[in-house]
Amino acid sequence: MHVAIAALTAALLAAPSLAQVSPPVRILGSNGLPMDKCAYNPASGLARLEPPLTNQMMLGMSLDWSYETPIKSRTKTRGYAAAVYNAWLDLVPNTFDGVGFDNSSFNWFGSEAGRVGAMLELTLNPPKDMKIADLKDLTPKMYDDIGKMCQIVNQQYGVPIFLRWAHEMNGDWYGWGNEPRAFIESWKLMTDAVRKHTNMTAMVWAPNIGMTYPFVGGGGTSARESPARGGLDFDVLDSNSDGKINECDNPYMPFWPGDEYVDWVGLSLYYYPRENCHNNCLTPADAFVSQLTGVNSPDTPSASLCPTDLWIQTHDFYQQFAASKNKPFMLPETGAPWVPTFANRTGGVSEVAIKDAWYKQIFSTETLARFPKLKLAVNFEEIKNLQLDKEPAIQDWRVTNNSETVKWWNGLINDFKDNLRDPTQLVYHCDGSITIGDKFAQAPATGGNAGGNGGNSGTTSPSKSAGVAMVASMSLGLAVLSVSFLLNL
Ligand SMILES: *[C@@H]1O[C@H](CO)[C@@H](O)[C@H](O)[C@H]1NC(C)=O
Ligand SMILES: *[C@@H]1O[C@H](CO)[C@@H](O)[C@H](O)[C@H]1NC(C)=O
Ligand SMILES: *[C@@H]1O[C@H](CO)[C@@H](O)[C@H](O)[C@H]1NC(C)=O
Ligand SMILES: *[C@@H]1O[C@H](CO)[C@@H](O)[C@H](O)[C@H]1NC(C)=O
Repeated sequence: MHVAIAALTAALLAAPSLAQVSPPVRILGSNGLPMDKCAYNPASGLARLEPPLTNQMMLGMSLDWSYETPIKSRTKTRGYAAAVYNAWLDLVPNTFDGVGFDNSSFNWFGSEAGRVGAMLELTLNPPKDMKIADLKDLTPKMYDDIGKMCQIVNQQYGVPIFLRWAHEMNGDWYGWGNEPRAFIESWKLMTDAVRKHTNMTAMVWAPNIGMTYPFVGGGGTSARESPARGGLDFDVLDSNSDGKINECDNPYMPFWPGDEYVDWVGLSLYYYPRENCHNNCLTPADAFVSQLTGVNSPDTPSASLCPTDLWIQTHDFYQQFAASKNKPFMLPETGAPWVPTFANRTGGVSEVAIKDAWYKQIFSTETLARFPKLKLAVNFEEIKNLQLDKEPAIQDWRVTNNSETVKWWNGLINDFKDNLRDPTQLVYHCDGSITIGDKFAQAPATGGNAGGNGGNSGTTSPSKSAGVAMVASMSLGLAVLSVSFLLNL
């Protein structure tokens, strides 16, 4: 034991970037039951995993894990880790030894996020080919196993989880879309299962931006069309009860499961090039705010179809869900795309120009002042084969995949660094709270607010001192890291 720790300490000193830096967190007592100090306290006024931030936010990265990990990504950003890394996981009933999800990948995502002290955003998908009646495929055991696995990752790696379950449920492109009643029922089952096991996992309710809702016109390509007239889901989605589901209905509210079931709210919100832009067109100046609030949106229907003020009320996501409900708000996936195959078309702008114009709208003190519940923006660090106005167009949202964008991105982060919190400054606790401090000054065994072993005296002293020694060497590694970060950026 001691030998192994000594070897590990030497390895940590030699290669701090490979350190398993997040200490494990004791969530359950020795009797296997939740400990008092791990009870989430709603009276704190903060949601689970909401750090106390004023005029500040966090950034995240949604990685393509087939070639990238948080450590690799951090290397490209010169030692600056994101506070959150997103990974995707699909449920497949009756597979993976009956649990229905790949828990070894889940485990790996968590441990890799832990290596840089970050949190994990897990975008967990119901089975892709699910039909309306088939939510029964999700058994109580499946929900419970997911809750348990969240607990394991929270506890083993000290890594909090943002669980984004069944996202973009208001769209027609996933099998779980367009069925508000089944979604809400499933959401509640998932929330109850997770909370039974841990308070270090936050439920993130995250529809798609509703600007062209109800997104019809897919020409039979949708995974699930709007429900037929006369059904119960139809009545729920027809929020203004005019006998039609159209752009005058509320694109979000029919899917709201209730304030007590949601920790964070999120919105898939990108700069998406408009119709008639067969080029690398520049991001419009108000693209972010107009989509988020509905004010001055190019999608505003004519006032004769729906009164504009009413339409804005139902499409202002920030007001309805972040401000009114006092929920922390994230962009769980965002970005602005570059189309490499359009690179030489005349009239287009550069990749950096498009991405800079988008991110200057988000990483802005004006934005933080106007939208104080905005706490996290996660870049979609991926490339996708899509279409742009019916033309095939590979779209690249990555900000760190080539030398030009990575140089710009590092500069952008550096310019905004006083308003960003990186994971070295976020201390995670088993009650779901996050405090600001030097995470690496905390030994895992000091208990109390360190999120360590708490008042439970089951731990033996050798592992306590080993823990302290490990953390000391990690702080050293981190000191080296942060110095190089300051010099390089
Ligand atoms: C989570 O917090 C609640 C109080 O908000 C508490 O009752 C529950 O036992 C905690 N769950 C765990 C697994 O610690
Ligand atoms: C994953 O699930 C299998 C089957 O239930 C179980 O044996 C294994 O311990 C789980 N792995 C983890 C990391 O929880
Ligand atoms: C754009 O032009 C450059 C320089 O001529 C060339 O190397 C590149 O392949 C062209 N790209 C496309 C997508 O046509
Ligand atoms: C860029 O992305 C490709 C996959 O599309 C990957 O193989 C390559 O390693 C990436 N390069 C960098 C610098 O991230």
